[in-house]
Amino acid sequence: MLFDRFDLQPDDPLLALIGEVRADPRRHRLDLSVGVYRDEEGQTPVMEAVKAAEAQLVAGQASKAYLGPAGDVQFCARIADLVLGTRSGCQVAGLQSVGGTGALRLAARLLAVNPRPHGSGPATIWLAKPTWGNHVPVFEGAGLRIRTFAHTDAMGTALDFAAWLEMVERAEPGDAVLLQGCGHNPTGIDFTAQQWATLATRMADKGLFPLVDLAYQGFGLGLEEDAAGVRALVERVPEALIAVSCNKTFGLYRDRVGALLMTGLQAAPLAKAMAMAKALARGEYSMPPDHGAAVVRTVLESADLTALWTRELDAMRTRLIQTRKAIAAHPLASDLGLTGLADQKGMFCLLGAGHRVVQRLKDESAIYVAPDGRVNLAGLPLARVDDFLAGLASASRAPQPEMAL
Ligand SMILES: Cc1ncc(COP(=O)(O)O)c(C=O)c1O
Repeated sequence: MLFDRFDLQPDDPLLALIGEVRADPRRHRLDLSVGVYRDEEGQTPVMEAVKAAEAQLVAGQASKAYLGPAGDVQFCARIADLVLGTRSGCQVAGLQSVGGTGALRLAARLLAVNPRPHGSGPATIWLAKPTWGNHVPVFEGAGLRIRTFAHTDAMGTALDFAAWLEMVERAEPGDAVLLQGCGHNPTGIDFTAQQWATLATRMADKGLFPLVDLAYQGFGLGLEEDAAGVRALVERVPEALIAVSCNKTFGLYRDRVGALLMTGLQAAPLAKAMAMAKALARGEYSMPPDHGAAVVRTVLESADLTALWTRELDAMRTRLIQTRKAIAAHPLASDLGLTGLADQKGMFCLLGAGHRVVQRLKDESAIYVAPDGRVNLAGLPLARVDDFLAGLASASRAPQPEMAL
C-alpha cells in the first residue's frame, strides 16, 4: 500500500502548540508562541482598512475570471513602491505569490533551476542561524544546498557581523545569501544602516546573490525606516530577489498574500527572470489566490485607506516598542539577559533558555513560547509583563535537589 509506506511525519512543533494552548484550561495562560500579532486583549482583529477595502471589493468587483500566473499586477506595482520607494538606479519586476512563504519558495526554485556560473552541484544558499523555522524546509524542498553560519554571538544578544563578513569570504561566486529585511525572526537583531551598506558592497564584489525575506516592514521603526536596508542593498548589487509577505502587516494571514520582487540593472534579463518565475508558478499552483492581494491593492490605491492602514500599523508597532521597553526596564531583565530588548526590533525575541526552561514555563506558569525559546512579544499584554518575567525567572532557576529523608 502506497499510503502505508510513508514515514509518519511529526506535526510542526510550533503549529502543534496552537491546539495545545486552546486545550489548556488555565485561565491565566499566555500564548507567546505562533507569530501572529495580538492586541492588548489578546485578539487578532481584522484591520479597519482591510474591512473597508473588502466592502469596496464586494460592492464593485465585476469578475472573478482568472488573472494568470503573475496574479494582480497592480498589486505587485504597489508593493514594489512600498518596499523600494522612488528608485533611481534599478529596475523592478514582480509577481504575486502565495504569501511570503510562496515567494521564498519561488525564489528558491529560480535559484535552483539556474545553471551555475562556477562549478557543478546544486545551487547553494547561505543561511544565518538561528532563523525562521520554515526557511530550511522551503529551501531544501526546492533543491537548494544550505550552508549555515552564526547570526548572533554566543550569548545571542548581539549581531555577529564578523561571521557575516567571514561568510562572504567563504562563499563561492554565484552562491545565494538569505537576508531578513527587518524584525529578524527569531532574534529581533537587525543590521545597522552601515552594516547593510558594507555587506551589500562586499557581496556585490564577491558575486553573491541576495535573497531578502521581508515579512515585517513597519513592525520595527516605521514603513520607510524598515525598508532602508533593502533599498541600500538593491542600489549596490546588480540583481536581487525580495520575498515580501503582507500577511502580518495587513493582518491577512489566512488569505496568503505576498509578492516576489526582482531587481536588476537591465530590462531584458529581468524579463527573462519574470518569464521563468511565471512558468514555475504555473507548474506549482497555476495562479495565486486573488482576494487578499486585491484587498491590499485597494488599500494602497486609496490615500484615505492607506492613511487608515498606516495608523493601524503605527499602533501595532508602538505597542511592540512599549512592550520591549517595559521588559528591558524591569528589575528582573538584567538577570534574565533581556536588557537589550529595547534596542531590538519587531515581533520576536529569543530567550537564551533551553528546552527545559521552555517546558517549565509551560508546565508551571501556563506560558507558551516556541520550542526554540522564541517569544512573540505581541502576545504579551503590558499588564502581564510582570507575570512573564516572574515565570521565566522561576523556570530558569535550577531545580532544587530533592531532600533525602
Ligand atoms: C521571517 C519570515 N519570513 C516569511 C514568513 C512567511 O509568512 P507568510 O507565508 O504567512 O506570508 C514568515 C512568517 O512567519 C516569517 O516569519
